[in-house]
Parts: sequence; C-alpha cells; structure tokens
Amino acid sequence: MYIVITSSPNQDGLTDACGKAAIRGITGGNGKVEHIDLCADDIQPCLVCGNGWGICRNEHRCVVGDCLSEYQDKIEKAQGLFLITPVYWGQPSEKMKFFCDRIRRCEALRKEQSVFAGKKVNIVAAAGGSGNGTVTCLAEMEAWSRHVGAVPHERIGITRYNRDKMLDVIELAGAHLAEGE
Ligand SMILES: Cc1cc2nc3c(=O)[nH]c(=O)nc-3n(C[C@H](O)[C@H](O)[C@H](O)COP(=O)(O)O)c2cc1C
Repeated sequence: MYIVITSSPNQDGLTDACGKAAIRGITGGNGKVEHIDLCADDIQPCLVCGNGWGICRNEHRCVVGDCLSEYQDKIEKAQGLFLITPVYWGQPSEKMKFFCDRIRRCEALRKEQSVFAGKKVNIVAAAGGSGNGTVTCLAEMEAWSRHVGAVPHERIGITRYNRDKMLDVIELAGAHLAEGE
C-alpha cells in the first residue's frame, strides 16, 4: 500500500492534478494506493502544549483528537508515500505544515521505530503562480523527510509553465515507487 497525501483546498487545481498523476502511476505500477486529503480531513495545528513538548515526546501521539493517529497507523503499514503541496509563500500549504509539524513531533525521536523509517517519500511542490518559492518549499519538505527518518526520493517542482511534462514525471515517479525502483 502506498499513500498519496495532498493539501490543497482547491478540488480542481494543480495539486489535485498532481495527486491524480501520482495515483495513476502507482496503480499503473501495480501498487495499491490510498489518498489522504488533509483539507477534506481538516487537520488541525499543533497546540504547542506543555513547555514546548507535550505527550508527543514520549508517547508518540498528539493530544489533538483528530485524524493524526489514524494517519500514523496507515503510514506505518505503507511502503512509500507522496507528499504533494501547493506552494504558498514559498512554503508548503498551512494544512501540509500542520501535518508535518505534528507528525514530526510524534515520530522524529523514535528513530528506527518511526512510522516513516526507511520509507521512500516523493515530495512535490505545485507552484501555480510565478513559480517562485518552488525550491524553498521542496527544501523544507526534504529536511522534514529526513527528520522523520523517511528517505527523500524524488523532489519534483511543478509550475504552470511545465505542467504537462511534470505531470508525466509524477506519474512515472509513482510507477517507480510501486515497482520498487
Ligand atoms: C496564499 C498563497 C500564496 C501563494 N504563494 C505562491 C508562491 O510563493 N509561488 C507561486 O508560484 N505560487 C504561489 N501561489 C499560487 C499557488 O501556488 C497556486 O495557486 C497553486 O496552483 C495552488 O495549488 P492549487 O492549484 O491546488 O490551488 C500562492 C497562492 C496562495 C493562495
């Protein structure tokens, strides 16, 4: 099972097209895939409880009772992931940041027990405006991947200028992920 995580409120935009391409690729590579839409699930931000660390540090779960623990269970069983975000201000979207911030707190200190440990992650930054900030967004997600013990695999920047070509690249990356390449 592979997981494609998207984080745009726009149901018919560039991020959505990237998500669909990733799913097509994984399916084409004979992989099973589940789509997580962080906006539809309305993931919540970190409360920064305690003195900077809450129960996330030792119990590896979050006090906020939303979908995060369900995601941890799904990711633990998954073989690899895509993280696909629109680029806002040269960064991942707020919903992607909520996910990354909270799950990093729960998983980063677990080292080889992290649900991400050794798993390939393809990161995609969808910059539909000028294209500026694609690289800083990818850099942020790459650093996060390493914090949680995942193995950043493809780093893909897509803009409105290279859209068609890069959708093909995303599909191919999905097939490679499922084929174990
Ligand atoms: C708050 C905000 C900030 C944005 N910042 C950038 C940016 O830094 N660079 C860029 O190329 N596009 C930027 N955009 C445009 C989005 O990347 C573009 O709308 C993209 O297509 C979003 O994905 P979507 O099609 O799934 O909505 C921004 C859009 C919003 C709403």
